[in-house]
Amino acid sequence: GQYGDSPAVYPSPNISSTGAWEAALEKASAFLAQLTLEEKASMVSGEPGPCVGNIYPIERLGFSGLCLQDGPLAIRVADYASVFEAGVTIASTWDRTMMYERTLAMGAEFKAKGAHIALAPVCGPLGRSAYAGRNWEGFSPDPYLTGVGMEESIAGFQDAGVQATAKHFIGNEQEVMRNPVFLDNGTVTDIQFDSISSNIDDRTMHEIYLWPFANAVHANVAAVMCSYQRINGSYACQNSKAQNGLLKGELGFQGYIMSDWGATHAGVPAIEAGLDMDMPGGLGLYGMVRNGNAFFGGNITTAVNNGTLDEARLDDMILRIMAPYYHLGQDQDFPSVDPSSAQLNTFSPVSTWLQDWNLTGESSRDVRGDHRDLIREHAAAATVLLKNENSTLPLKSPKVIAVFGNDASTDTQGFLNQNDFEYGTLSAGGGSGTGQLTYLITPLEAIQARAAEDNALVQYWLNNTLIANSEMPDLWIPNTPDVCLVFLKTWAEEAADRSSLHVDWNGDDVVASVAKYCANTVVVTHSSGINVLPWADHPNVTAILAAHYPGEQTGNALVDVLYGAVNPSGHLPYTVALNASDYNAPPTTDIQTSGKEDWQSWFDEKLEIDYRHFDANDMAVRYEFGFGLSYTTFDMADMRVEMITVLDQANVPARPERLPVQPGGNPAVWAVLCNVTAGVRNTGDVAGAAVAQLYLGFPESAPPGTPPRQLRGFDKVLLEPGETGTASFSLMRRDLSYWDVVSQEWVIPTGEFTVNVGFSSRDIVLVGNITVIE
Ligand code: NOJ
Repeated sequence: GQYGDSPAVYPSPNISSTGAWEAALEKASAFLAQLTLEEKASMVSGEPGPCVGNIYPIERLGFSGLCLQDGPLAIRVADYASVFEAGVTIASTWDRTMMYERTLAMGAEFKAKGAHIALAPVCGPLGRSAYAGRNWEGFSPDPYLTGVGMEESIAGFQDAGVQATAKHFIGNEQEVMRNPVFLDNGTVTDIQFDSISSNIDDRTMHEIYLWPFANAVHANVAAVMCSYQRINGSYACQNSKAQNGLLKGELGFQGYIMSDWGATHAGVPAIEAGLDMDMPGGLGLYGMVRNGNAFFGGNITTAVNNGTLDEARLDDMILRIMAPYYHLGQDQDFPSVDPSSAQLNTFSPVSTWLQDWNLTGESSRDVRGDHRDLIREHAAAATVLLKNENSTLPLKSPKVIAVFGNDASTDTQGFLNQNDFEYGTLSAGGGSGTGQLTYLITPLEAIQARAAEDNALVQYWLNNTLIANSEMPDLWIPNTPDVCLVFLKTWAEEAADRSSLHVDWNGDDVVASVAKYCANTVVVTHSSGINVLPWADHPNVTAILAAHYPGEQTGNALVDVLYGAVNPSGHLPYTVALNASDYNAPPTTDIQTSGKEDWQSWFDEKLEIDYRHFDANDMAVRYEFGFGLSYTTFDMADMRVEMITVLDQANVPARPERLPVQPGGNPAVWAVLCNVTAGVRNTGDVAGAAVAQLYLGFPESAPPGTPPRQLRGFDKVLLEPGETGTASFSLMRRDLSYWDVVSQEWVIPTGEFTVNVGFSSRDIVLVGNITVIE
């Protein structure tokens, strides 16, 4: 049908006993059987408390309540917690093990602080627009890479005993007008404008935006957070097609859907459309739920009593909430909420709720362990080397080092006040996805420490305006520097889209000014993601490193790469275009709002975001998706293709009617049909890790709009000099299918696929063919 108009899908599917959660579901049923109606209402309604989201304890049943905490790179409302690298940074490693290790460590910190639920990981926004303010919280605009990031991250959190939350479901691809404009007094009863509507057609939904959520469900994610904006005209948290249809129906999701904070716009209609938990609970965010100022809370009791809400639906909500709780053993010796959380949580005045919470246990627990080592290792592995002329890197014990830029050194306005600060290196972005630094190793101090080993001279200029307006001789540099290190940054945060794809603070002029005199200018960017780099081809810019948001060990990780202790192996999880205007799908920013529902964002580019767009339109780019250099070189040979399952049928339903529900939908979609291997050789002088990438070209029988090449596999292979290893890729049925909107099935096109294997989306070394359906 016509998109922009969301179909009705009712009733909301019930949790059913499936494999992994079976025993947990029995415990959840026993718990449910003991609840009064008021207690049931409380189990699904957020309340103010020590965490960002809270479900009240039920002491008579020994239930200590639920503590929900942000976010994707740290437990945010906490002291003495680690700040890990951002999602876009870990995605740049293309390393599944690191993706897993990161959240395993982060999950241990959430648990030790008493948080049952991590409000992470993020795959929405996916990154439709390069400008979107929150892309860095997630992984990549490529759904396959992001899908892997989701699976590994969820496994890490949940193996640490913490529930993961896949967010934001779905189509939350811009921040501008993400939520209705409330009246000044905070009321939501008289909304001036509805939020933006992300209008997404069915094929694009499945092949791009739903894709990584399917990985999340397949990985048994405990929770999904519905998003602020509308989807095809109806609010995400009351969109029955999205929640009942796609998520709980097609994908067989067995956990619970919680609202984003203030994204609930109805009570019973939202519940019937699949919403299971309202967060943070009150109208206008943290209002006092118990005073009846909420869509859920007391209204649930009333709705059941007057017959508007079927109690069986309420029971299903609670089973969905409690099954993961028991499955992860959270009923056994789970740590108490760290009392310091109550002091740090500024979302509602402590005085209004503290008397209701019996906060026990040690306060300000240091939960970091030795995670600093992991963070340093991951951040170094995530650093993307974009340019390296004359082997300028790694540095060879330079004696005269000049450091430039306001991103090089200390945050002069405090760790949590980064929004507009001029001076200070960026290690994370802003909003609910940030972290609270306990300490920070800046690039400048790490460089100074390392340079001292060579008795080198380190000079620095941090004022971008000064640098941009000075001739370098005026800066009193006594000798020609052996190397000039320029640090640039780009801020991004929740609730605001970026206004430019250039680096902040006049950074382009800083590079120009330095490169005018310094023949060995090395540029480092700390950025939320995509920047256009107009100076990239300047002959004096000899090296460029994209470090993104590296977390608390940023300086050490960078020095490891600069001096060659670590050979960089990061690759871009997006495309760097030549011009900002080359990107399609910019955010919708300036609608003439005369009507309440006027804010519409039409995803008319369909599948063509990021490299799919540049490839489909044969556009030159500066650095393509998947690109990244190393201090060594690699070659590739000998591709082998093994068909392991021969099919007689091209199509498979996403959710077969006769099979029991499986998280992730039809298991046939996830079956590996074909294995591909390629030999990779280190042809240089130092050990290094290659990222081998597989891009599928679909046969001509695939429907129009199918992108020329799509990532369907990657493998990171660590090799000693001269060593040859094997990169392996497994192609699942979904990888070889398109979503057929008529049959509502995944369909494998007839004819030959092209299998492209190489080191980036445009550095294809080996090409082969496979035919799955004759
Ligand atoms: C709103 C954000 O969109 C969401 O990601 C976050 O988890 C909640 N606020 C709670 O801070």
